[in-house]
Amino acid sequence: MMRQMADDWSARQYLKFEDERTRPPRDLLAQVPLDRPARVVDLGCGPGNSTELLIERFPQAEVVGIDSSPDMLRQARERLPGRTFLEGDLSTWLPQERTDLLFGNAVFQWVPDHPAVLGRLIEALPAGGVLAVQMPDNTEEPALALMRDVGSDGPWASRLAKANAARDDLPRPETYYDLLRPLAAHLDIWHTVYNHVMASPQAVVEWFKGSALRPFLSALEGDTRNGFVNAYTAAIAKAYPARHDGKVLLRFPRLFIVAVK
Ligand SMILES: C[S@@+](CC[C@H](N)C(=O)[O-])C[C@H]1O[C@@H](n2cnc3c(N)ncnc32)[C@H](O)[C@@H]1O
Repeated sequence: MMRQMADDWSARQYLKFEDERTRPPRDLLAQVPLDRPARVVDLGCGPGNSTELLIERFPQAEVVGIDSSPDMLRQARERLPGRTFLEGDLSTWLPQERTDLLFGNAVFQWVPDHPAVLGRLIEALPAGGVLAVQMPDNTEEPALALMRDVGSDGPWASRLAKANAARDDLPRPETYYDLLRPLAAHLDIWHTVYNHVMASPQAVVEWFKGSALRPFLSALEGDTRNGFVNAYTAAIAKAYPARHDGKVLLRFPRLFIVAVK
């Protein structure tokens, strides 16, 4: 079961790698089999980058963003004035109006017991409605394994015990299939592995400062925090060696689910 991320997100840090972070929602949206949905909700809309894609694809639709982070909602409202962004917690949120598309990019990995939540969201769709979800499936990748290893070995270890337990592996596709297929007329589940080209090992660390590192960093301060970041950066430099041009490839597997009710 996933445990919810306790601290707020920094929209600015997250958007440092906007091009790379917007590729998965583009790939997810490309598989949504809808032409003219009347109402679309961007679940965990963050700073509005995924919401913007939804507005581009469905200009006639009412597009609404939901997020639990006031910082993200503020950025989204600045980016897309005139659109509706509402604070909500996806562990309990359900659409109150008929909604044709529920789109959740890079959010459900943080929602406790998210497979059951996805089931409830499909049940809330009208016939023909779509739930489209993408989640990082990278907990076994070196970048996340090293976060846990470095985090549990050093003067910071006791402060990081909670962060170290914050995200579990995603269930396997079979688990989602068995749970969601009875609720859907059509269900498509796939993985894509991205290889993001990063400028340096430090850039890999900066990437994760906008996501998986946040619970670690918010539990530390001062020299202890710097010590942890330095030890993690050194470990990342070993695990992600420079290519011929000095760049580093960040391998990033992601899981996609598209359910049509
Ligand atoms: C990685 S960002 C994804 C942002 C955007 N959807 C995108 O495609 O880039 C994850 C977002 O989920 C939000 N979030 C995390 N847990 C949540 C919850 N339980 N309910 C609502 N939003 C949540 C975070 O505040 C953050 O804005």
